[in-house]
Amino acid sequence: MSTNRLLELFEQNPGEYVSGELISQQLGVSRTAVWKQIKKLESIGYQFDASRRLGYKLISSPDTLSVPELLSQMKSKIFGSSIHWFESVDSTQNIAQKLAEEGAPEGTLVIAEQQQNGRGRMGRGWVSPQGKGIWMSMILRPSTPIHFAPQLTLLTAVALCRSLRRVTELPIGIKWPNDLLIEGKKISGILLESTAEDERLRYVIAGIGISVNLEKTDYPDEMLNKVTSLRIANGGDGFDRTTIITDFLHEWEQLYLLYCEKGFGPIITLWEALSVSLNQPARLITPQGTIDGVPIGLDASGALTVRKEDGSTVIVFSAEMGEPVR
Ligand code: BTN
Repeated sequence: MSTNRLLELFEQNPGEYVSGELISQQLGVSRTAVWKQIKKLESIGYQFDASRRLGYKLISSPDTLSVPELLSQMKSKIFGSSIHWFESVDSTQNIAQKLAEEGAPEGTLVIAEQQQNGRGRMGRGWVSPQGKGIWMSMILRPSTPIHFAPQLTLLTAVALCRSLRRVTELPIGIKWPNDLLIEGKKISGILLESTAEDERLRYVIAGIGISVNLEKTDYPDEMLNKVTSLRIANGGDGFDRTTIITDFLHEWEQLYLLYCEKGFGPIITLWEALSVSLNQPARLITPQGTIDGVPIGLDASGALTVRKEDGSTVIVFSAEMGEPVR
């Protein structure tokens, strides 16, 4: 029995109890099989009231994204014009990569309600529960050399920060290079994975994770001092994911066009204005060693300029940024 047929029965009887006996008759399965399917639906966000006497009543359905609704609200022209939506995937990055290899055009978007194996930077995982966040990957085909890829990461962080501030009115800032934070806790992460040939980018998969409506119980306890969601930061009131996605894609497209026309300069100015990492002492753990100093800005390539205690400056391309050790 598919859960779809069971859901159809509840849709035909809105707000009413449907007896287990009627369901098993209509669908030709045992009452135990019905109960198992109800449990399966509950595990993906449906809520039922179960009464021994009356049967089951559907109380609420999970917040599921709808592709027609996304397309009807889309303000961007290229980015998000083709959407591949999935209920559950291992990682949207893998699906987008496969589509890119098959020739999917720039702007193709892969969105999943849930990721079983979402991945973050530095080999970490990414908490991606059903229907509560935005887990998406976008195919880019920039005509730039491979060493420009980090600029796209910073551009994505700027677009996301500007858009989320506008939609949520929450005090969101960028921690170098591309984490979005509210009062020191992470609400979003960006993962760019590039494939190049002869020093040119063949395609880039921009993975974006936004913790929109997660509750504290969605995170492992040990993460709670480092992460939050838009909903938690907003005092418990959630946000509409469709609005967030479509607004972000529009902002992204505008900034990408600006970048293609005017280069990286304007993006640096915008990034620096939104950054919470500048002019604060920090410890940077780079592949070459640890640097203690004060980040003072981005250089023309997008690398971080850090002033050390002896007054000299160093350029940092890749690092984990943390609090200084006192
Ligand atoms: C980070 O570590 O900050 C980056 C997190 C990126 C998570 C997103 S969710 C959509 C896409 N699919 C993944 O598996 N990862 C990215």
